[in-house]
Amino acid sequence: MPDRLPEKLPPDPLPLAASWIEEASAREVQRNPNAMTIVSVAKDGKPSARVVLCKELVADPGYLVFYTNYRSRKGTELAANKNAAALFHWDALGRQIRIGGTISRSPAAESDAYFQTRHWGSQLGAWGSDQSAPIESREALVRQISSRGIELGLSLEEGTRRISNEQVPRIDRPPHWGGFRLWITSVELWVEGADRIHDRGFWSRDILDAEPEPFCMTPWTSTRLQP
Ligand SMILES: Cc1cc2nc3c(=O)[nH]c(=O)nc-3n(C[C@H](O)[C@H](O)[C@H](O)COP(=O)(O)O)c2cc1C
Repeated sequence: MPDRLPEKLPPDPLPLAASWIEEASAREVQRNPNAMTIVSVAKDGKPSARVVLCKELVADPGYLVFYTNYRSRKGTELAANKNAAALFHWDALGRQIRIGGTISRSPAAESDAYFQTRHWGSQLGAWGSDQSAPIESREALVRQISSRGIELGLSLEEGTRRISNEQVPRIDRPPHWGGFRLWITSVELWVEGADRIHDRGFWSRDILDAEPEPFCMTPWTSTRLQP
């Protein structure tokens, strides 16, 4: 039985989208099944794309969450222009999800809680790297990370990895690092079909009120699209 979208498109696409992400993870179809491409748009209108990890898709009220450096290229672009797009693709499943929406910052307490679940090496990375800023060499980068680790109380002697987990002090989240929520206003679920007769379902809705969160949205409208 070929994989298809339901004949009658569901009124809300997000539970189905979330189940696709869960299935890709459960079946370990690739090394990072929760990887998605995020597109931001700079002030001059030029888009840029990069892969990040989707840490959560909250179907109700409808946003996905990823973590990054707020001062990075994507961080500054998304702060200035809140329109963003996300794309998942699982080649092994013949499925693609296209998402469009509006960005907000995750609540600080949520970012704090997530940061504390991370390995100390990743915590140090968040302090040690001025993501997207130029640096003259790999060696300078390693030196910068080591010296910031020492400032945080890590007993790093040579390099950044010579430390046992027992010696690690609590590392607080840097204020310039945390979560973004992408509030979902459009979704396309795509299923690969034989002879390029793919299945495409498209849903959209509008934001009625973004303040205060959670965003208030209109109901979804949906249609099928030709492949
Ligand atoms: C599989 C994969 C997962 C990644 N996950 C993240 C992530 O969750 N957060 C992040 O900031 N960068 C992540 N990156 C690195 C980004 O792709 C990118 O290099 C970095 O965020 C800088 O992007 P920017 O300069 O456009 O802001 C990941 C890269 C790959 C290939």
